[in-house]
Amino acid sequence: MPPSRTTPTRPRSAVVTGAARGIGRATAVELVRLGYEVVVSDLDAVGAAATAAEIGAHSGMALDVRDPDANRQVAAVARDIAPLGAWVCNAGVAFDSDLVDLTDGQVRLSVDVNVLGVMWGMRAAADVFRDQAAIGVRGGEIGVVASLSAHAPVPNLSVYAATKAAVLSLTTSVASELRADGIRVHAVCPDGVATAMVDGFDVHGGTRAILAAGVMLTPEQVARELVAMFGTRRVYRTMPVWRGVVARAASLSPAASMHADPLLRRIGARRLRRAGLR
Ligand SMILES: NC(=O)c1ccc[n+]([C@@H]2O[C@H](COP(=O)([O-])OP(=O)(O)OC[C@H]3O[C@@H](n4cnc5c(N)ncnc54)[C@H](O)[C@@H]3O)[C@@H](O)[C@H]2O)c1
Repeated sequence: MPPSRTTPTRPRSAVVTGAARGIGRATAVELVRLGYEVVVSDLDAVGAAATAAEIGAHSGMALDVRDPDANRQVAAVARDIAPLGAWVCNAGVAFDSDLVDLTDGQVRLSVDVNVLGVMWGMRAAADVFRDQAAIGVRGGEIGVVASLSAHAPVPNLSVYAATKAAVLSLTTSVASELRADGIRVHAVCPDGVATAMVDGFDVHGGTRAILAAGVMLTPEQVARELVAMFGTRRVYRTMPVWRGVVARAASLSPAASMHADPLLRRIGARRLRRAGLR
């Protein structure tokens, strides 16, 4: 077993960002189940504390992932609880509009949270993992919640998809950069997941239709898949696997994908109508 994994005699801490709710919360639950001393962190400090108490995590605290120093401070707090074993970059935002219809603020926030926030988190975690080698705790696990949209054109969600493609690229490169330190980096790329993020999309809009044409996962499924990669050499996984194959094929032929997209949206819109949602 890698020394970064938690055991009853050698407890390890773990930090999950954006964990007050949704996929982050489910990931925190999974890590608690495995015995990690979990720090639930979120922009929403009250929500983080409430979630931590509900799921039996060590603690909940404020963390705005856009702040590099704040990421380092939370990493230091976790390390004081027990040697850091895992850090999960989950916090994210999404706005369902075309590039030209988003506000400047929405575009900037998407990049700040979804891309820079992951970079700051990875750097904070990797620094602690490397320092810990001096006390005999070598390695660590970094998890990233990317998205299936990292693999394919996604009209009406173009900025979000671009941020997720960026973090998937980051994950694959950094996994190699940190390999010699025994630090493993893994990303999960799920299709739609039933969370407040999706609830916030316009029910009459194109993004809800394209999601309804695909597979709606639960936060727990995503959390299990991500954490199951810890301790393995697996760098990323798409969920479900077949949607990853279709998405990558679409990215190989964006022109063909442009023709298929309206059809998929019609299928999704019909499913939403049948479900009484539009
Ligand atoms: N829901 C989906 O369909 C879906 C699919 C694929 C990937 N994802 C990704 O999963 C991750 C979690 O999304 P979710 O669906 O659970 O969404 P959610 O909106 O339910 O939860 C996101 C959490 O992130 C927090 N957050 C937002 N900005 C933050 C910041 N600056 N610093 C710290 N925390 C911040 C929010 O307060 C919230 O608790 C995101 O990265 C998202 O892009 C979601």
